[in-house]
Amino acid sequence: MNATANGLDAYWMPFTANRQFKENPRLIASADGMFYQTTDGRELIDGISGLWCCNAGHNRPRIVEAIRKQAGELDYAPAFQMGHPRVFELANRLAALMPGTLDHVFFTNSGSESVETALKIALAYHRLRGEASRTRLIGREKGYHGVNFGGMSVGGMVANRKMFGTLLSGVDHIRHTHGIAGNLFSRGEPEHGAELADDLERLCQLHDPSTIAAVIVEPVQGSAGVIVPPKGYLKRLREICDRHGILLIFDEVITGFGRLGMPFAVEYFGVEPDLVTTAKGLTNGVIPMGAVFAQTKIYEAFMQGPPAAIEFFHGYTYSGNPMACAAAHGALDTYEEDGLFTRASLLGGYFEEAVHSLRDLPLVIDIRNIGFVAGIELHAAATGPGQRGFQAFLKAYELGLLGRTTGDTFALAPPLIAEEAHIDRIVDTLRRVITSID
Ligand SMILES: Cc1ncc(COP(=O)(O)O)c(C=O)c1O
Repeated sequence: MNATANGLDAYWMPFTANRQFKENPRLIASADGMFYQTTDGRELIDGISGLWCCNAGHNRPRIVEAIRKQAGELDYAPAFQMGHPRVFELANRLAALMPGTLDHVFFTNSGSESVETALKIALAYHRLRGEASRTRLIGREKGYHGVNFGGMSVGGMVANRKMFGTLLSGVDHIRHTHGIAGNLFSRGEPEHGAELADDLERLCQLHDPSTIAAVIVEPVQGSAGVIVPPKGYLKRLREICDRHGILLIFDEVITGFGRLGMPFAVEYFGVEPDLVTTAKGLTNGVIPMGAVFAQTKIYEAFMQGPPAAIEFFHGYTYSGNPMACAAAHGALDTYEEDGLFTRASLLGGYFEEAVHSLRDLPLVIDIRNIGFVAGIELHAAATGPGQRGFQAFLKAYELGLLGRTTGDTFALAPPLIAEEAHIDRIVDTLRRVITSID
């Protein structure tokens, strides 16, 4: 197929093998509930909630209606020095969902922007409190925090970093928790590795804690291939941060909005960070929107000085965009009415059994799961890492399953509306995929 002749050439696709795709395009025409329809009339079961974002499934009436209504009422309102009621209502609603004192919300348009926002809040917070020496940011190996310069710098996925120069200065990384031998085929939080949190102590010794502003981690790592934190690991990170006056940021872009069977991982793990970044499920993926949650103490630190002065020189034209707010309200209505925030805990056991049934397949070297997320890791092919994973992704598409592969891990994160029969279909298809690739 000639890509130029058929009009696929102009669009430079993100995170995509453009030439491979344009030779054999995979085009989606419509979606409903658990399913996508392709332009060539085939049905795909959605095993990954679009891209970890359509937590309530597709084409949900409350969201569709909210957007339709909003478009006819208020299309756009300026975000700076002006407001509109829906954005305040949304912030209140979100603050009420989040435990502890994480009760102030700053709106962005994506996970990447939420991360940049949180990092900037952390730096400014310390400066406002007279600790301007705290400029260092700490991420984690294999971490994914989006693609902007801050997120890329604290991120730890090599392919996402290596082409882009020196990135932010003053950034360091703690070790990841993937691949600990005793943790293979763990169900939920693995037993071993809490002490890896002490790597933060090592960096405190190396850099002096008074130079460190914040540590950012995904409570459960998604994009690097579903890495579940060892038991006690996140609590230990929190303790070390407290000991040294370092802010802890949870990047909940994937774990937020019910993925683990609770609204947020903060509640699931019983660990309260100082800042939380979210996006994706906030609007069910329907309209771009992100939100950063900040503890009261952080917000209050900014609310000093003359009342007519801008407290935080940061924001986006589309922060709190009315259409995005409408979609978010529709999504929250849907999650609440359908009980979706707790669904991954109700059906999590069934999902866990189903994914671990793939253990007998010779190509499978590890399976990890928590809530409604699982990673099935395959032996890397002799031709190189990631090859077999991509082959599995293509085969799954051919057999009617939309998943996501990162390296050689096949990730599943189905919409929270999935019934047992959907889980069976996803896992049965994946079994056929793995047995049919070489
Ligand atoms: C943990 C995490 N942070 C940030 C991002 C970036 O989000 P976005 O693609 O909306 O910029 C992602 C996206 O997958 C993510 O998983």
